[in-house]
Amino acid sequence: MSQVVEHSEEHRGAFSSRKVFILAAIGSAVGLGNIWRFPYVAYENGGGAFLIPYLVALLTAGLPFLLLDYGLGHRYRGSAPLAFRRAHRAAEGLGWWQVGICFVIAVYYAAVIAWAARYALFSFDKAWGDDPEGFLFGTYLQAGDPGIGLDFVSGVTIPLVLVWVAVLAIMALGVQKGIGAASAVFIPVLFVAFIALVVVALTLDGASAGLDALFTPNWGALGETSVWIAAYGQIFFSLSVGFGIMITYASYVGRRSDMTGSGLVVGFANSGFELLAGIGVFAALGFMATAAGVPVDEVATEGLGLAFIAFPAIISEAPAGALIGVLFFGSLVVAGVTSLVSVIEVVISAVRDKFEMSRVGASMAVGVPAALISITLLGTTTGVYVLDIVDHFINRFGILLVAVVSMLALSWAFKKTGLLREHLNRDGSVRVGRWWELLIGVVAPAALTFILVNELIDNLRTPYGDYPTWMLNTLGWGLAVAVVLIGFLAARLSWRDDTFLGDPEIQAQQDERSN
Ligand code: ALA
Repeated sequence: MSQVVEHSEEHRGAFSSRKVFILAAIGSAVGLGNIWRFPYVAYENGGGAFLIPYLVALLTAGLPFLLLDYGLGHRYRGSAPLAFRRAHRAAEGLGWWQVGICFVIAVYYAAVIAWAARYALFSFDKAWGDDPEGFLFGTYLQAGDPGIGLDFVSGVTIPLVLVWVAVLAIMALGVQKGIGAASAVFIPVLFVAFIALVVVALTLDGASAGLDALFTPNWGALGETSVWIAAYGQIFFSLSVGFGIMITYASYVGRRSDMTGSGLVVGFANSGFELLAGIGVFAALGFMATAAGVPVDEVATEGLGLAFIAFPAIISEAPAGALIGVLFFGSLVVAGVTSLVSVIEVVISAVRDKFEMSRVGASMAVGVPAALISITLLGTTTGVYVLDIVDHFINRFGILLVAVVSMLALSWAFKKTGLLREHLNRDGSVRVGRWWELLIGVVAPAALTFILVNELIDNLRTPYGDYPTWMLNTLGWGLAVAVVLIGFLAARLSWRDDTFLGDPEIQAQQDERSN
């Protein structure tokens, strides 16, 4: 066997089957974005009518980009930097840019999982009393004025340490025994728990008011640019594209696999879960609004407000509140862990490929510093602000930006989309036509560039939140620029072993012919 293929298959690890790969990819896609972001984004941006821009974004950018990631990872059989490097010598930096983004996201994503785990326990005694908001920011997070205060908050630090220990154990176990096995257990559990939550939510008084609020279409919204921007933004974060995750996972699938069929299963499972989350969350919000005698728009919110303020209020009021709490926060933990694992794997896999490190060595070399930074910044009184700023900037000027640049680079500078299309079609059950190259090379980058320019103007005109400028300049803009610089510097480091940087597919075909 050639060195190229040997390096890929035997040293890097692999999923035992396509089914496990699909479960892991769904595990990555279905995360906090589905549960706490989609329902409100849909509600705010036209309700039922939002499904149109959402579907357009899914079909014109989300799924095509997912297939690009799959093609790249599967053909070049490497972590993001290795796959890009094998596609073209000059492309490696794009992979490291994604690695940097993933490191940053992992640091704060873990904190939300830790909060959710703590809130699952708070659900039993409804520790927030009758003031969930005061409890969240005051008693629980002990957040002072925005600024750096490094006082540890034990209620956050302890679950955060536990989250990192669990994640590092999964990472050290490897691709199949760790990520694959965890996904095979967690994803079915997540679906059962979430469906149970939706069923309970639908039986609450006022559930239908919530569903009416969510699904009543506001057709006028279709004419607003911001609605289309919201749809494209939602799809990228939610499908886990632009992070390098799907490149990495696709490199662990057998060489002769149906990647296009897998992509459709993952894409539609993710969107199906999102819709289910919309129904569950709005049924519960409908109950809350009805109980308080106010319209749904007074209680509807997203992100931290939804999970840690609105849901606690629902849990306090609803019959079987503790059950709702355990199902809701438990789902956030499980969905979050399977996504966090995929985010940190991007970094571990890259370090392993470049520096030829062992699985356990790389998991510790990446995971321990990530955990320490995460605990130091997010486990303290500053945590909630760090999270809010970093999340806002890295999603826009990290993920969306690297997505545009990599689509344009692969289409126009390195001219690889034709080759990748052929590769996807070789064993794919769903044929990818020429239109895909048009979507990747023109339509999706145009849509994303439009979004980014709008976001840039907005953020320059109105600085995000009420934060001190130095915080926005360091944790926001600074970090978004730093990941690019660090990425392109990392690409300049030499490979520990550069004999395997050729195209593994060509090598494998030569081997087949000579056998
Ligand atoms: N796709 C993951 C989420 O939705 C990152 O949270």
